[in-house]
Amino acid sequence: SETIRLAVIGGDGIGPEVVAEGLKVLDAVLVGTDVSVEKTDVELGADHWLKTGEVLADETLERLRGFDAILFGAVGAAPGDARVPSGLIERDLLLKLRFSLDQYVNLRPSLLPAGVASPLADPGEVDFVVVREGTEGPYAGNGGVLRAGTEAEIATEVSVNTAFGVRRVVRYAFEQAAARPRRKLTWIHKTNVLVHAGRLWKRVVEEVAADYPQVTVDYLHIDAATIFMVTDPARFDVIVTDNLFGDIITDLAGAVAGGIGLAASGNINPDRTAPSMFEPVHGSAPDIAGQGIADPTAAILSVAIMLETLGQPEAGARVRAAVAADLSTRGAERRGTTAVGDAIAGAVAARAQ
Ligand code: NAD
Ligand code: IPM
Ligand code: MN
Repeated sequence: SETIRLAVIGGDGIGPEVVAEGLKVLDAVLVGTDVSVEKTDVELGADHWLKTGEVLADETLERLRGFDAILFGAVGAAPGDARVPSGLIERDLLLKLRFSLDQYVNLRPSLLPAGVASPLADPGEVDFVVVREGTEGPYAGNGGVLRAGTEAEIATEVSVNTAFGVRRVVRYAFEQAAARPRRKLTWIHKTNVLVHAGRLWKRVVEEVAADYPQVTVDYLHIDAATIFMVTDPARFDVIVTDNLFGDIITDLAGAVAGGIGLAASGNINPDRTAPSMFEPVHGSAPDIAGQGIADPTAAILSVAIMLETLGQPEAGARVRAAVAADLSTRGAERRGTTAVGDAIAGAVAARAQ
């Protein structure tokens, strides 16, 4: 038997609401297996900072390293909330976790489930996965401000791309592509303008491609990629891209594949030198927090990615099947957060051996 030691960071807004449903489904899928889960709640986020002054203490970060995985809801205040400086929680908590735990693969699958409406009239078969770089790019925090607050102010935000960092995420994406039936990899950048990073990405993609002759490689500029994401999302199989392009394209992908309430992700450390972290793509949604109406499906599917990453593919598949069954019967009815969680947990239990 095996015990998963899981840190749970509900966070802010709808984060704790959706994570509670993810845990409900996790408990249900492990019934009757020889796997158990030991959960530890870790209070972090904007509310926690307002209460205690802690964004992410060194000892909290060190404690988190000791877990097998982290389930994360969402953090951040409402964009206009003057009490919380913009970027404080995002950078010094969420990005610090991704960077410190070396979660260099941000895996964001998009699959338009049967029976779910897309905003596109004729989306075709939407089934692709975005491998977003998670530790570098414009997110690195490399930049600064000169002559702040004056008419002569200069602010820079310099993208950092290392051969090491690009190579490891590109290799991971090729591995994903090689394991999928269509074996197609699209790398996305803006090589026509961002020539320095673009050249590095191109060289690395070409070098790694030599090891994967069975994978078809295709390139798109990010602006054109957004066109195809809307006009022909079925053309995509595996996408690999940098941190910022990946952030933007995955919100769009979420919308195309049935809504942001379904978009799940894993921040994965493939080398297992630190725990991976699983979270919905969406944020704390202050506009609907506390109303019990947030869709917990993204958090539940993040649990499925977690199970797969932790070597429990069968349990992950049962969660996915239960979600698919629930989605196929959802129609236009509007259920609350706990009702959706209950339905999926019930479907998981009904599928138990
Ligand atoms: P958001 O994703 O929180 O919300 C965007 C829109 O989508 C809102 O209208 C919201 O109601 C809706 N939405 C999101 N999740 C939903 C769900 N599960 N069910 C139904 N509707 C849902 O993005 P935002 O408003 O730009 O950001 C709010 C806060 O969250 C900010 O502080 C931001 O920095 C933070 N944020 C955090 C994460 C994270 O923790 N990973 C991700 C994105 C944004
Ligand atoms: C996401 C979010 C984060 C990101 C923010 C909150 C730091 O938008 O997980 O997509 O940009 O990565
Ligand atoms: Mn985002």
